[in-house]
Amino acid sequence: MQAAFTTAYGGPDKIEYSENFSLAQLKSNDHVLIQVANSALNPIDGLRNRGYLRLLQPDSHPHIFAYDVAGFVAEVGTAVTAFKKGDRVYARIGESEQGTTAGFVSVRDAHVAIAPKNKPLLETAGIPLVGLTVLQSFEAGNLKRGQRIFISKGAGGVGTFAIQLAKHVYGAYVITTASEKKIPLLKELGADEVIDYHKTNFWDVVKDVDFAYDVSDQPWAHAMITKKGGVVVALRGVPTAQSAKNILSTEPGLILSYVLAAGNFLTSRFAWWYGTRYDAVFCAASGKDLAQIAKYIEEGKIKPIVDSVYDLRNAKDAVEKLESGRATGKVIISVDDTLDKGFKLP
Ligand SMILES: NC(=O)c1ccc[n+]([C@@H]2O[C@H](COP(=O)([O-])OP(=O)(O)OC[C@H]3O[C@@H](n4cnc5c(N)ncnc54)[C@H](OP(=O)(O)O)[C@@H]3O)[C@@H](O)[C@H]2O)c1
Repeated sequence: MQAAFTTAYGGPDKIEYSENFSLAQLKSNDHVLIQVANSALNPIDGLRNRGYLRLLQPDSHPHIFAYDVAGFVAEVGTAVTAFKKGDRVYARIGESEQGTTAGFVSVRDAHVAIAPKNKPLLETAGIPLVGLTVLQSFEAGNLKRGQRIFISKGAGGVGTFAIQLAKHVYGAYVITTASEKKIPLLKELGADEVIDYHKTNFWDVVKDVDFAYDVSDQPWAHAMITKKGGVVVALRGVPTAQSAKNILSTEPGLILSYVLAAGNFLTSRFAWWYGTRYDAVFCAASGKDLAQIAKYIEEGKIKPIVDSVYDLRNAKDAVEKLESGRATGKVIISVDDTLDKGFKLP
């Protein structure tokens, strides 16, 4: 099958493409084999390719990367009842599953959902990881209807999803940050206030939010703008040993557990100093949550935002774009666009 893969830990220069990669097989009887129409990238792909996660999740090479996929079910394991051959699906694969920059990928059935019917797979491929992250973050922070939320980095994949979920599902008052030229898009998505981060520090002008969503890795600044009793939910915080275990489905070693516990304690003390609760969230694969997200997309509450589309042969350029940190919405990889050619609006 065709695949883009890394040959060793490193940057985009370590990515190669082949049409003769050995065909992915169903990995177990509770898996579905997905024929990939589109894959999509997230910052974690660049970090993992460079080996920054090797203590938590070591990779052997060649390594097919990326977590997001949209495509069609090609085969189902004997224990799978929820899906059948030909289903149009999307997923955020599990940590130990082979990546999605390939013609086929075997994914646990519990990680898969039927893709939204009103959008092409090219667009919905970018939804799973960011959608799950935001949905799970708002649940972890117990966001309530009508609250004031601050979301940093509003124009990224996470931010564009978070603004829409906060506004159109939670009815929140949404404050976010972006460069000036991206402000109109974020207002169109539902932001009430957009701060140009090149001109103004958000912590100088934002006060008393109920929920600060730290997408920009500035925990202290998010704690400062949150009212007492409010919550800071961080995406680049240090996970507890328990959440690392939940994500990886394996126990982190004793030393790593101590390191995680110490790091988590230090960051959460910062928020405690400001009288807020602190939580570090890590996206967990979940077909159930993806089914809920598909419903929001079909109801028109959330639309996927695509920055750019690259052919699988040019996955290296796609990763370069991702690592530039300038993408507005998602960087998508086209693996086989002919698969979804029958798509038409319902
Ligand atoms: N914990 C988890 O499970 C999890 C899951 C998903 C993502 N994450 C993390 O969340 C972060 C966001 O990811 P992402 O997918 O949204 O992509 P991203 O590549 O971090 O976002 C790119 C966007 O951010 C904007 N931006 C960059 N610096 C900014 C700043 N200081 N203030 C405001 N906007 C800024 C850029 O706009 P300009 O071009 O205008 O600068 C660009 O549109 C990453 O750090 C990622 O690792 C964590």
